[in-house]
Amino acid sequence: MRYAFVGLGHRAQMYVDALLGEWRDAGTIVALCDLNRTRMDYYVERIGQEVPCFAPDEFDKVLELADAVIVTTVDATHARYVCAALDAGRDVIVEKPLTVDAEGCAAIAAAAERSSGKLIVTFNYRYSPRNSAVRRLLMEGAIGEVTSVHFEWTLDTIHGADYFRRWHRQRASSGGLLVHKSTHHFDLVNWWLDAAPELVFAQTDLRFYGAGNARKRGLDERPERGQGAPGLGSDPFILDISADPRLKRLYLDAEHEDGYVRDQDVFGEGIDIDDNMSVLVRYTNRAVLTYSLHAHAPWEGYRVAFNGTAGRLELDVVEREWTPPHAAVDPSAAAKEHATGSSERLLLRRHWSEPEEIPIENGAGGHGGGDRLLLNDVFRGPDNDPLARQAGYRDGIRSVLTGVAATVSARTGAPVHLSDHGTRVS
Ligand SMILES: NC(=O)c1ccc[n+]([C@@H]2O[C@H](COP(=O)([O-])OP(=O)(O)OC[C@H]3O[C@@H](n4cnc5c(N)ncnc54)[C@H](O)[C@@H]3O)[C@@H](O)[C@H]2O)c1
Repeated sequence: MRYAFVGLGHRAQMYVDALLGEWRDAGTIVALCDLNRTRMDYYVERIGQEVPCFAPDEFDKVLELADAVIVTTVDATHARYVCAALDAGRDVIVEKPLTVDAEGCAAIAAAAERSSGKLIVTFNYRYSPRNSAVRRLLMEGAIGEVTSVHFEWTLDTIHGADYFRRWHRQRASSGGLLVHKSTHHFDLVNWWLDAAPELVFAQTDLRFYGAGNARKRGLDERPERGQGAPGLGSDPFILDISADPRLKRLYLDAEHEDGYVRDQDVFGEGIDIDDNMSVLVRYTNRAVLTYSLHAHAPWEGYRVAFNGTAGRLELDVVEREWTPPHAAVDPSAAAKEHATGSSERLLLRRHWSEPEEIPIENGAGGHGGGDRLLLNDVFRGPDNDPLARQAGYRDGIRSVLTGVAATVSARTGAPVHLSDHGTRVS
């Protein structure tokens, strides 16, 4: 298989390294496409041989060279590349979120239906062993019919803050966190429940990041970015991108080309996304989800509980228990080691029985071995996976539209029926 990449930033590396390493027999990298030449040069060096590089307006040339396209660009640009690749009959592997709005969903659905190419959305969270274990238990009927789900996701001041430093801080680029981030979470719920969302109500607000909140808390006179800032190295919100050679190469050394500043102040002007989000979703099987996401927590992780007719299932995950201030601003691997503490517990509570802790079998590599399972699915095929982890365009659309509907609901104050968005979700 001949693979082309569009979008050569941070995320592309996992797929590039896979094709250079464990999955090298699955295909070769034949073309790169990005608006930034410096970032493409970084990847050409990494690949270790000449690979043709193209600008966005040369994407037709990319399609001539490739059998499949891996899309890892800024979210709002996914739809145009996905549709062009599908219309050329190419396979597409696209990062989440599939796209950022209802128009993108409709265009991708139409292109996917008329194309001979196959589309995979790489929802890596499905492959995390703890999330797979939940799916298996619910499929087996361990708690009977699921009636409601309570799902809270907390992003800490390392991970959560980072969305407010770069393009994610603008809704036009990322769809806001209810699309960019929650697409993972809404997809998990759709897949766990094997049901489609149908009615959404939400409330959201920007309460922590952004210039207005900073002024209210007396944080005036902020530098516009990390590089050259007086607080570099001491202020826990000012990131030092020159401390990590890879971030420096990909962003600082590349910004003269496109003005992409990777270390903007999280308390600066121009942020139009929210950092506190609460959503209620009703599904086709009558289950109701109560969901919340907030982006400035002192710890990172999630808690999800399923209430069913035969009991309750609870998954508690701590990905990072706490962070000393220097680890938040020095993105190097050594600093991350100081950010500590992780744990996970999956508890099955059946009526009239003692609670049972379900063992979670983690493997080697990122996300408890989940990243390897995903890459294997992508490059070798899912091989009759009983959990049906590989996601297609319908899955991508369902989760994006939940976030889009929640955003509309938060703005209007009214519940939104997903059928109002004109794209089938079931
Ligand atoms: N599944 C996950 O856990 C996960 C993690 C990180 C990122 N992602 C996804 O991967 C994608 C990329 O994220 P990232 O962190 O690598 O971002 P990034 O900013 O590091 O990289 C984005 C790249 O896209 C390029 N680009 C922007 N506009 C373009 C255009 N019109 N045409 C071609 N290239 C363009 C940029 O120059 C940059 O090189 C996003 O969709 C993000 O949601 C997923």
